Formats: sequence, structure tokens, C-alpha cells
Amino acid sequence: MAYSFDELINTRQSCRSYSDKPVEKEKLEELVKAVRLTPSACNSQPWKLFVVTGEKARFVKDALQLMGRNKFTEDCPAFTVFVEKPATLKAGIAEMVSSQKFAQLDVGAAVSYYTLKATDLGLQTCILGWFDEKKLSNALGLSKSEKVRLVVATGYAVDGYELREKVRKDVSEFVDFIG
Ligand SMILES: Cc1cc2nc3c(=O)[nH]c(=O)nc-3n(C[C@H](O)[C@H](O)[C@H](O)COP(=O)(O)O)c2cc1C
Repeated sequence: MAYSFDELINTRQSCRSYSDKPVEKEKLEELVKAVRLTPSACNSQPWKLFVVTGEKARFVKDALQLMGRNKFTEDCPAFTVFVEKPATLKAGIAEMVSSQKFAQLDVGAAVSYYTLKATDLGLQTCILGWFDEKKLSNALGLSKSEKVRLVVATGYAVDGYELREKVRKDVSEFVDFIG
């Protein structure tokens, strides 16, 4: 697509209107390659991804459509489930920063890489944190130490889909420049 960086971050938005056009396998592979480059604490890369497409995605949709929410995912052809695995931090660091949940932050960063790469490839995404975690964990056969953190709906938008104006705080509300 050749977006500038600013265009890229302005173009990424949560899509809730998907067409049923499948996502090409090559594009899904490019998305996970982008995740591979995400920085993480001690380079621990504490994630595992499940890329679920087509008919097989039924169990993901069932877990996402909870209490009337996320119904729009019904039309979406692909989902990537981001699972956090226990991070192996360097000796000493884990104790020093035990109050920090680095693995959780790392998975968040990985999701950012994924969604921005998707935008770059002309795809739409929606990060989803609202789901039946037990249903997903069981279906994926996760162990007790693995936790589903986020699911990213991935696909193409319906015709006529438009970029929205971003609703955000003003920078003055969240930044202090010191010095
Ligand atoms: C951690 C996280 C969880 C989210 N969970 C959901 C969700 O379950 N359903 C949904 O429709 N959107 C979900 N969103 C999307 C946010 O609502 C959206 O990112 C925010 O309103 C900003 O809009 P934008 O992504 O279009 O810029 C989630 C976003 C994040 C980062």
C-alpha cells in the first residue's frame, strides 16, 4: 500500500463491517512475520498465535459473541488469537521488576504490530477483548499457564466502508514535557 507512517496510524481503525472475502494465506503469513519483529522484555517473545479461518472459525465466533456483543464478527473470515505464554526473563530481572506484567505488555505490542501490518496490506482489523475465555482456551487446548489475551478479527471491509475521524483525548490531557 505504501502508506507513510502517519498515514498508516491514521488509517488503522476498528472495522465492524466485514465482507466475506477470504484473506489470502500469503497475507496472513505476512502478518505473523510482522509479529515476529515485535520487541519484548528480555526478547522473551511470550506469545503464541492461532490463525483461524473459514469454517474452522465457528468456535472463535461463538466465543466472541457474548451477551449480544461482537455480533459483527459473524461475517469476518479470519481471526488471530493472541495467547500469552509464561515469559522467561533473565535471572535477576524478574525479581527486580516483579510488579510489572511484561508478558502482557509484550502481547499488546505484538497486536499493534499485527494490526498496523494488516492496514499496510489493505486489510481491516478489530482488536477484541470481550470473549468467553474458557470456551476459547478449551477449544485450543491451552495449558493452565497459557492465557488468551486478545483476538483480532481480520478481513476486508464491505464496499463503501469509510475512514472515521479519530475520537481521542487532546495530547495536553495525557502528556507532560519535562525539561
Ligand atoms: C484491548 C482492546 C480490547 C478491545 N475489545 C473490543 C471488543 O471486544 N469489541 C469491539 O468491538 N472493539 C473492541 N476494541 C476496539 C476499541 O473499541 C477501539 O480500538 C477504540 O474504540 C478506538 O477506536 P479505533 O480502533 O477505531 O481507533 C478493543 C480494543 C482494545 C485495544
